Amino acid sequence: MFFKHFLSIFYFVAFFADWSNAARLGSYRVRRVTVSGISAGGAMANQLHVALSGTISGSGIIAGPPYYCAGGSLIGATTYCMTNMFLSPNVATAISKANSYASSGLIDSLSNLRDQRVYIFSGSSDYVVRSNVVKKNEDFFKNYMNSNNIKSNYGLAAGHAMITDFFGNSCSASSGNYINNCNYNQAYDLLQHLHPERTLQKPQPGASTTGTLVEFDQSEFASSPSTVSLDSAGYVYIPRQCETEECDLHISLHGCLQGKYKLGNVYAANTGYNQVADLNNFIILYPQAVNNFFSNPNGCFDWWGYTDANYSNKEGKQIKAIKAMIDRLKGF
Ligand SMILES: *[C@@H]1O[C@H](CO)[C@@H](O)[C@H](O)[C@H]1NC(C)=O
Repeated sequence: MFFKHFLSIFYFVAFFADWSNAARLGSYRVRRVTVSGISAGGAMANQLHVALSGTISGSGIIAGPPYYCAGGSLIGATTYCMTNMFLSPNVATAISKANSYASSGLIDSLSNLRDQRVYIFSGSSDYVVRSNVVKKNEDFFKNYMNSNNIKSNYGLAAGHAMITDFFGNSCSASSGNYINNCNYNQAYDLLQHLHPERTLQKPQPGASTTGTLVEFDQSEFASSPSTVSLDSAGYVYIPRQCETEECDLHISLHGCLQGKYKLGNVYAANTGYNQVADLNNFIILYPQAVNNFFSNPNGCFDWWGYTDANYSNKEGKQIKAIKAMIDRLKGF
């Protein structure tokens, strides 16, 4: 009796909370689309770029392993894709996988990458995903693009984190919310590199924002989001002028332990993208992964195959869902 009553209250609250908060993702006048992410989000960023290079024209990979590093193996993901003590990520395997996916149409044509751009970052105090793993992103992308199109930064004594100039832990930390203040505006530097056609204005550290951070319903983009480790809601930041003017779209992917289920909107509100967005007409999409007790306890985006073997190509469940969010934002 008590249990039944308790459950119905629970369902009522859950339904009401969902109904009251999560808006339908809107459509805007979107120009170019780029992506970035930290750690597992960095892995998802390179997967999205490689899989959807016809739609996404640049990626920022912060402290993340290279494309197809884990090759579908959780053991690979947690060993040679993180600390690289005895084995290295096998870039040749990743290149041949990408080439075969492209020839069977499971990813967009790799020739799109030729004139596109990549930003790669690893802090020299990062002992979670070591710099020599992250640097392998260069070897992968150099196979498809001019090395001038790749900007790398391995010189900051930063821990495993998204870096800002106004918010977060001490620069060398690798814990908590995994956002560190190193007096470096990574969001700005990354977006400027991915947009050579524009001269972006750099915000003052900690400038207040003037747009709206919207919690939107993710469930319409994956039929049963929790079964593919997507949260029922994500975040999108809309600067006021993007309601009417043309804006570029940037997708920012959180790392493990940084999703809404764990941090609420801390990542979406404090990683510095929104301030750059206000000054420079960017919409910022923050898709949200959720934890699963058995397959994904830390709420990481899928870069080792816990959804299925297509996790790193266009048939991947999370990649499909994020593509559908891009299409909605573009008004397709
Ligand atoms: C991967 O996608 C291909 C092409 O749609 C499909 O034939 C195959 O069954 C998929 N594999 C898995 C494990 O879902």
